[in-house]
Amino acid sequence: MDRRTFLRTTAAGALVSGTGLAWAQTTGRALPVLPISDLTKGIEGRIPLALNPSKHDFGNGALSDTFGINNSYLGPLFRVKQGQTLPFDIMNGIGDTSTLHWHGLHIPGDVDGGPHQEIAPGATWSPDVPVVQHASMNWFHSHMHGKTARQTYNGLAGVMLIEDDASLSADLPQTYGVDDFTLILQDKTFDGNGRMSYELTGEVFENGFEGDTLVVNGAIAPVTQAVPTGLVRLRILNACNARFLELSMAAGSVTVIASDGGFLASAVEAESILMSPGERYEVLVDMATFEANALNVNLDGGDGGGFFANLFGGNQPITALTLTQTGVAGFSGAMPTRLANLAPPDRSNATVNRSFQMQMDVGADLAALALAWDNFCGNAGAMAINGQPMKMDRIDETVRKGDTEIWRINVDEQLHPFHIHGCSFRILSQSGATPPSYAQGWKDMVHVQDGWSEVLVKFDYEATVDAPYMYHCHILEHEDCGMMGQFTVT
Ligand code: C2O
Ligand code: CU
Ligand code: CU
Repeated sequence: MDRRTFLRTTAAGALVSGTGLAWAQTTGRALPVLPISDLTKGIEGRIPLALNPSKHDFGNGALSDTFGINNSYLGPLFRVKQGQTLPFDIMNGIGDTSTLHWHGLHIPGDVDGGPHQEIAPGATWSPDVPVVQHASMNWFHSHMHGKTARQTYNGLAGVMLIEDDASLSADLPQTYGVDDFTLILQDKTFDGNGRMSYELTGEVFENGFEGDTLVVNGAIAPVTQAVPTGLVRLRILNACNARFLELSMAAGSVTVIASDGGFLASAVEAESILMSPGERYEVLVDMATFEANALNVNLDGGDGGGFFANLFGGNQPITALTLTQTGVAGFSGAMPTRLANLAPPDRSNATVNRSFQMQMDVGADLAALALAWDNFCGNAGAMAINGQPMKMDRIDETVRKGDTEIWRINVDEQLHPFHIHGCSFRILSQSGATPPSYAQGWKDMVHVQDGWSEVLVKFDYEATVDAPYMYHCHILEHEDCGMMGQFTVT
């Protein structure tokens, strides 16, 4: 069977999708190491970022139409330091209005890069972005109202690692491209010619767009990397539009050291971790004990499988990244025990309570309004939060700077990832239960399904009516379709 026939066969059997087999037969691609822009030692002049249309080979020999940021696909990896101010010049060359949002950064609304900081085609946006927070893995992506899903899928995304004095001197692997790797995980669909495609139907809106092929740093999985003997650090971003990914190791457990907003109190061992779109986790892999190991990803994480998925081979983990030893001695430190000072969240600090209901079927009247308010739902009905689809000139919540609040989020159907701009929060409960230990540190994403999730949050920066913050479902098609709201902090 040649590759084309194989693809058609798998594409025809819809029940087989989700296994990531489509273009994955050619194994042994090298892990693409994202080009790094390491600014921790200083910044000279302004930092140009060019958003451009491009062509990119995901590793199957076909050139796909993509967007890239200074690259053919995705952006550079920024490594910056707490205390710096980042003078970006963001040039929009994609031929359509766009924005670039700094997901996870504690910054004022006017430099947040949300839907209000539009960059017209051909224009340049020059925010000075202050880095005030502690060491953490953050990212950036398009946040153009109604177009976030497509622009991000096409490649407008990248990672920003923040370091601080403690993280730079920590006894952890941090030699980039040697024992410290950043992985951007995404799911894609490729057409019969091997080109990346993105098609929306009513059903796609229900679940959000789900591709059948796993891609790591813009290369079709599995990818391989040889590493020295010792600990290896993987900083992982789920940049899928809609898929929850379940991550596990081929040998041993997953050792998690950091979540969205920084280090955990101590390393956590988990059999697997469930990552929603938008989430980040850092893990350590012991490459002294094992000569080879692999990071496995189940594309149907959070789905719970089901008879048909299991019968037809869906809901099975696939290999994302294989690590092999070079035999050279590498990072010789031990698995860390204590990582950060992190007191348990104290809900008695909260003086304000808010609640949010995420809604999927809001009826024809609201669907018409959603459309008029530039939400994009394809042929599907609109989505909403608290009975309102997103509207650019309506402020939904007003928050007082410095108040500690409890946000309660609920949904009737499906599993959704809820995100809040301008902060890191702590999860008090996730879908009615204590969050897994690896999700008990600083977060800006929380899963919501069958019951309330609650987060304890405080906002320390201003977001005015002209530049409000967003809260939304991070299934990007849901966000575009109206499952988003806005708030000010003053
Ligand atoms: Cu990652 Cu409002 O976004
Ligand atoms: Cu964000
Ligand atoms: Cu959603």
